Amino acid sequence: MPEIKNDERLIKRGKAKLRWVKEFMPILNVIEKEFYHNKPFKNIRIAICLHLEAKTGYLAEVLKAGGADVTITASNPLSTQDDVVAALMDNGIRANARHGVSDEEYTLHHCQTILQRPQLIIDDGGDLITLMHTKFRDYLPEVIGGCEETTTGLQRLRSMERTGNLAIPVIAVNDALMKYLFDNRYGTGQSVWESIMHTTNLSIAGKNVVVVGYGWCGKGIAMRAKGLGAKVTVNEIDPVKANEALMDGFDVMSIYEASKIGNIFVTATGNYHVINKEHFDQMPNGAILANAGHFDVEINKEDLNALAIYKGEIKEHIGEYQKPDGKKIYLLAEGRLVNLASGNGHPAEIMDISFAIQALSLQYILQNKNIMEKGVLTVPKEIDYKVAMLRLAALDIKIDDLNELQRKYLESWKNK
Ligand code: NAI
Repeated sequence: MPEIKNDERLIKRGKAKLRWVKEFMPILNVIEKEFYHNKPFKNIRIAICLHLEAKTGYLAEVLKAGGADVTITASNPLSTQDDVVAALMDNGIRANARHGVSDEEYTLHHCQTILQRPQLIIDDGGDLITLMHTKFRDYLPEVIGGCEETTTGLQRLRSMERTGNLAIPVIAVNDALMKYLFDNRYGTGQSVWESIMHTTNLSIAGKNVVVVGYGWCGKGIAMRAKGLGAKVTVNEIDPVKANEALMDGFDVMSIYEASKIGNIFVTATGNYHVINKEHFDQMPNGAILANAGHFDVEINKEDLNALAIYKGEIKEHIGEYQKPDGKKIYLLAEGRLVNLASGNGHPAEIMDISFAIQALSLQYILQNKNIMEKGVLTVPKEIDYKVAMLRLAALDIKIDDLNELQRKYLESWKNK
């Protein structure tokens, strides 16, 4: 692989990307100024493992402005943007990541990051924290705490906690109101369709779109598909959420039934092998499969490979699979999360909110290091509300406050 560290062309392009997103991340702009003056992370070693594109790059710079010694690595080899990596290296941030590396190189980059002996960690999907708990246990005592960005990472960390294996405090950033209500729903809703449309250059209007999983991501994906003119069907294993999807105006059926009619399938379950051979067998010619879940395990690629009489890449990020009956199936971005592996991820304004929660949660861990207990912890309400208020302030929106009479009325149990 060619050296990217001093590649002037890449550095210039990466810096331009960083400059662009900074213009649209006003909450982080405020936090950057605060951190720059107060240096809350002075001499603290921070490791970041996130989708390594420009918004993440800016988060790394904000933490560096707060005095931290930052090392960054990627949470998915296909979402890494080499120009951003080169720009960050040029700005004095250690970056262990390259686009499209093999699984071995990907893990090597994580190991190199851990070798910097991080005291604070930001993880996305749990890869870095689980690696520290398996291969680098000697380094764990130096870790003050961490933050986890996504639903799937929290599932893994909660499993570690249940089995007594989690040795550090980790704040569940994903579960902050200001995170999942916006990032998972509106961020994924927009960026998944943006990347599917860009990659395929096809119309969404009039298509039968099948959304598998009606959690926060699935709700956003279904809502935006409807807005684009698709006929949307939802598959969901939770009967309450299945009812919610019905009330939101979508058809609800089993994945087996939906397989017969779907033109575009998008998985967002965080689960394993939700689309398999029996579903591929039913699919109409030209069915397009995309995944929005964190890992590339939702669409059963082993089954797809096994049934194909022909397979190949027809266009960048589109795998073509021909079934024995002659019908074709197209898999986007190798079944990895499509909006990052074949797109630029969420809009900058959305990541501004999520990364503000990350930055403030990391600061909270440090400020409270003597009382933090190991386990998965909730984001303090003050942080959620601070970020909400900073966003409104950035948009110059004022909201009302309770007056004294209203406050007393809400607090009393008499005279209702
Ligand atoms: P969630 O827990 O809110 O929703 C997942 C839904 O899938 C649940 O309603 C669950 O009942 C359903 N489900 C599970 N197994 C199923 C099956 N076999 N068939 C049908 N439905 C099934 O989780 P959330 O926040 O929506 O996240 C989903 C995934 O997306 C996770 O892997 C998360 O890490 C990832 N994610 C991806 C983002 C992206 O940018 N692409 C952004 C945020 C999260």
